[in-house]
Amino acid sequence: MPTHKHFRHKLAFIGAGYVGLVSGTCLSDIGHKVILVDRKQETVDKLRRGLVPIYEPGLDTLIKKNVKAGRLSFTTDLAKAVQESDIIFIAVQTPPDKDGHADLSYVEGAATQIAQAADAYKIVVNKSTVPPTTGDFVAKILAKHNKKKIDFDVVSNPEFLREGSAIEDFMTGDRHVIGVSNKRAEKVMREIYAPLPMQLFVTDVKSAELIKYASNSFLATKISFINAVAQICELTGGNIDDVAKGIGMDKRIGSSFLKAGVGYGGSCFPKDVSAFVKIAEKHGYDFNLLKDTESVNKEARNFFIKKITNAVGGKKGKTLAMWGLAFKPNTDDMREAPSITVVESLKKKGFKIQAYDPEATETAKFVLGDKVSYEKDMYDALKGADALVIMTEWKEFETPDWDKVTKLLKDPVIIDGRNMFKPAEMEKLGFVYHSIGRG
Ligand SMILES: NC(=O)c1ccc[n+]([C@@H]2O[C@H](COP(=O)([O-])OP(=O)(O)OC[C@H]3O[C@@H](n4cnc5c(N)ncnc54)[C@H](O)[C@@H]3O)[C@@H](O)[C@H]2O)c1
Repeated sequence: MPTHKHFRHKLAFIGAGYVGLVSGTCLSDIGHKVILVDRKQETVDKLRRGLVPIYEPGLDTLIKKNVKAGRLSFTTDLAKAVQESDIIFIAVQTPPDKDGHADLSYVEGAATQIAQAADAYKIVVNKSTVPPTTGDFVAKILAKHNKKKIDFDVVSNPEFLREGSAIEDFMTGDRHVIGVSNKRAEKVMREIYAPLPMQLFVTDVKSAELIKYASNSFLATKISFINAVAQICELTGGNIDDVAKGIGMDKRIGSSFLKAGVGYGGSCFPKDVSAFVKIAEKHGYDFNLLKDTESVNKEARNFFIKKITNAVGGKKGKTLAMWGLAFKPNTDDMREAPSITVVESLKKKGFKIQAYDPEATETAKFVLGDKVSYEKDMYDALKGADALVIMTEWKEFETPDWDKVTKLLKDPVIIDGRNMFKPAEMEKLGFVYHSIGRG
């Protein structure tokens, strides 16, 4: 916790999921008093017992520290949390509806409950990712459901943390963004974030809402761009690693998000890109660039599935080992993980899959059920398999005991969706090694 003097505010977070839990805990760590509210009794019970319902490196220690210091608490009682706090963050889910729009029903529900409970002026902060004009929508809900004619300010404060490095991103990332409509709310929001070292970018509410969609859509487009270039590398004999490195050396482009693979997944990029297409459509703009981003992403998974079937001869009844299920390393999040599409397609083709993921087994069981067997370690997954498929680049997969891998696999075939290894080295080790965009 920073030692310099700063304002200590009373905050409530509605939603103790990935974003609410991390950002609420971090804000308690810089000195604010934070009440985390979730309607799931099980989540709150776990947190009260000192257990963290999600896997996020460093979060358990940070929660313990701030609970002990009396700055952080958990409840299902939204009304009490609202009454005891001055600033209420809405951090509930905004999943895609059946047409790809952001489903705002959870935000609407939370805003309604806040309005019904509020007994004095509150700042209500949209931390969930929401389309432009949601600030106005929330203001209307607050006015409609508050019988006491309480005054509210609605602020947009989109979140940019990445699962897996969420604490670091929140505490020392590139920026926090605040969208405000008056100086009163701006002053308080500046005080809340003052102890953090990064820049606070203040703008109007709609621009802040758009910054979140534009950022995620741009990053997703970078991934699809490099995946399309990887296809050209395969067709021409180029090497995507060198091409990406050469592109990234240009500071105007930058080297991040230029890693070819099986396409983006997770709880944010897929839904935010599709919601941005829908937002544009609603306002009369056809966002073809983003539609292509989406189709290249689908294509990347399909190319990988074809690569696997080609590598093992495409015959029914073969067994595949799968390393990694989570949509990326250092998280147990399975939402929109590329492994889902790959497993479902391979299963339909008659493959048997023996999977291992260091953290996502429990979450994967919800999504994949018995479509794969869940093995207890990376070597168990290899036993008797015809080939190894790599879906997630977990650190523990970086330095395997290659002798053991060769002995356990029936055939020394690896299909790597994350380009974890160098083709020449794998060849030297005796593997038939397939990866993405390497000639
Ligand atoms: N997960 C990420 O990496 C990430 C990053 C940046 C932004 N976001 C955005 O942040 C928002 C939240 O995402 P998340 O991943 O934390 O979602 P999540 O599903 O993990 O968490 C949402 C939580 O809100 C709770 N909830 C819903 N309605 C409630 C209510 N009325 N009262 C109390 N609790 C309620 C749910 O029970 C759930 O635990 C989304 O809009 C998402 O797009 C997510």
